[in-house]
Amino acid sequence: MEQPPRPKLFDFHGVSMTKYFTDNWDDVQNFKARPDDILLATYPKAGSTWVSHILDLLHFGQTSPERQTSIPIYERVPMLEISVTTSPSTALPCFNGKDRIDQLTISPRIFKTHLPVQLLPKSFWEQNCKIVYVARNAKDNAVSYFHFGHMSMLQPEPGDWSSFLQRFVEGKMVFGPWYDHVTGWWEKKQTHSKIHYMFYEDLIEDTGREIDRLCSFLGLSPSAEQKQTIIREVQFDSMKKNKMTNYSTAPKMDGKVSPFMRKGKVGDWKNHFTVAQSEQFDEDYKKKMKDPTLYFRTEV
Ligand code: PPS
Repeated sequence: MEQPPRPKLFDFHGVSMTKYFTDNWDDVQNFKARPDDILLATYPKAGSTWVSHILDLLHFGQTSPERQTSIPIYERVPMLEISVTTSPSTALPCFNGKDRIDQLTISPRIFKTHLPVQLLPKSFWEQNCKIVYVARNAKDNAVSYFHFGHMSMLQPEPGDWSSFLQRFVEGKMVFGPWYDHVTGWWEKKQTHSKIHYMFYEDLIEDTGREIDRLCSFLGLSPSAEQKQTIIREVQFDSMKKNKMTNYSTAPKMDGKVSPFMRKGKVGDWKNHFTVAQSEQFDEDYKKKMKDPTLYFRTEV
């Protein structure tokens, strides 16, 4: 079947976006959050699928285990702003994140967003919802985004690595600059107690410890056995094998080009950045990331 052309980036309220994340904007901005909703926010490719699965298992692993074996992760934890409409000339199915959230019968509802903090619908602040933010170091995040650009038809053409990296540094990415995203949410966290800010590198280092921290934020107390099961099920290799978490069922992605569950490591950037690219990146990074309290590890 014919594939649709790759979407073009355009400026949307000061952030680079594509139509797939802005077409439904009125509905997104008027979204009515519920006080017990749990929102997972990340820059793309920072580990949202990983933490989606953790959140879903923590809340429903005991009560509705059939969810995990029958519903793909992107439907269990839908993305608020995604909107893909069917056209007879494309291979894309219709997918509307807001409608999918409206259909959720579970409580609490858990869903995700890649929106930068300033674009989040106001209802989340009015309802004082719990928000889990996951951030990943810029270099690995850029590498993961590059490979994703090749396999996801919803992304603009990624081009070659060096041109992609240049655009990453300039912030010409869907959902805007990584730098503003992680900093904006970090600053919001200083005044908003219901944001739990996590790091991908910490999850890699000690998944159990990070699940404990997440549970204290969410007010959950899983049994030791339940926690062990979750740690096992959310390991990279388990999620890569699991059809309900590896995106092999998502038609707009081509896992043969690059698997969604690609490497799952800290430090893969070393296999992509040349020494010169790394030095230039670090120079620019120092100018943009001035807050010493927001610190990322590029190796663990
Ligand atoms: S998306 O498309 O924005 O929703 O992508 P996202 O899920 O946020 O990020 C995908 C990257 O997270 C890695 N991943 C994991 N790493 C370690 N352990 C587990 N369990 C795990 N699950 C997902 C995934 O492999 C992508 O990173 P890369 O570096 O490309 O492998």
